[in-house]
Amino acid sequence: MPILQTKDLTKRFGAFEANKDIDFSVEPLELRAVIGPNGAGKTTFFNVIAGTISASGGRIEFEGRDVTRVRGSRRVHLGLAKAFQTANLYAEQTVFQNCRLAALAGIQGEFAPQLIARSTRLAEVDRVAADALEQLELAGVAEVRAGDLSHGDKKRLDIAIALATRPKILLLDEPVAGMSIEESRKTDVLIRRLAQKITVLIIEHDMDLIMGLSDSITVLHQGRILAQGTPAEIRANQRVQEAYLGGHAETESLGGGR
Ligand SMILES: Nc1ncnc2c1ncn2[C@@H]1O[C@H](COP(=O)(O)OP(=O)(O)OP(=O)(O)O)[C@@H](O)[C@H]1O
Ligand SMILES: [Mg+2]
Repeated sequence: MPILQTKDLTKRFGAFEANKDIDFSVEPLELRAVIGPNGAGKTTFFNVIAGTISASGGRIEFEGRDVTRVRGSRRVHLGLAKAFQTANLYAEQTVFQNCRLAALAGIQGEFAPQLIARSTRLAEVDRVAADALEQLELAGVAEVRAGDLSHGDKKRLDIAIALATRPKILLLDEPVAGMSIEESRKTDVLIRRLAQKITVLIIEHDMDLIMGLSDSITVLHQGRILAQGTPAEIRANQRVQEAYLGGHAETESLGGGR
């Protein structure tokens, strides 16, 4: 059974259709990339899946359950998390505190009464937070104020925060954007490692990273699915090439090489 499925998923902003009739399906432990030219509707798609914004039409199923009308915080409790690109980060709190708050939010749904009644749950919160930092190799900066982190560490903290909610599926929107090549390679390795244990959906413009990292790729173009396939299939797809080349000059081609 797919872990996540959408049927005829549509998102309108006024009369504009940012996502149109998207049929999408991801298997457990798959590492799926979602790519497409600027403005294709990728971020909108992730936001609708995460429940940050509501769908205008169609259906979203998570583990076979219809979550289309389930609010975002509840989806987090069910195991669906999106890294929120520093918007979710408390700059004045330490790196550890940021993860701890996320761990608390993730655990609260299931265990709120026990959490209040039993302090053992708080030890679990600390363990989950520490584990998330460990996995993103941020343990060394655990006591640093989040606002003082380098750009690369902030981006990784963003993933750690999502991970601290203990998701079954993790949505990453441009996790290496703005990183140096070195930071981006390091993050690539960390994402690969995460993907062995959880399902990962990733939006990224770095084609070298995507082609090497993902099991399969979905290409969005003007709000619709243009193509789906293995990295090799997508690289060879003429329509995909045209969508990119006909789009914005700053978008990298699919030919590979920086
Ligand atoms: N809240 C909104 N209100 C109106 N239009 C929006 C809103 N959010 C997104 N859009 C529009 O929907 C389209 C898709 O935007 P989206 O951010 O999903 O694209 P994207 O594929 O993530 O692009 P990028 O690669 O640049 O991040 C764009 O034309 C954008 O202007
Ligand atoms: Mg986007």
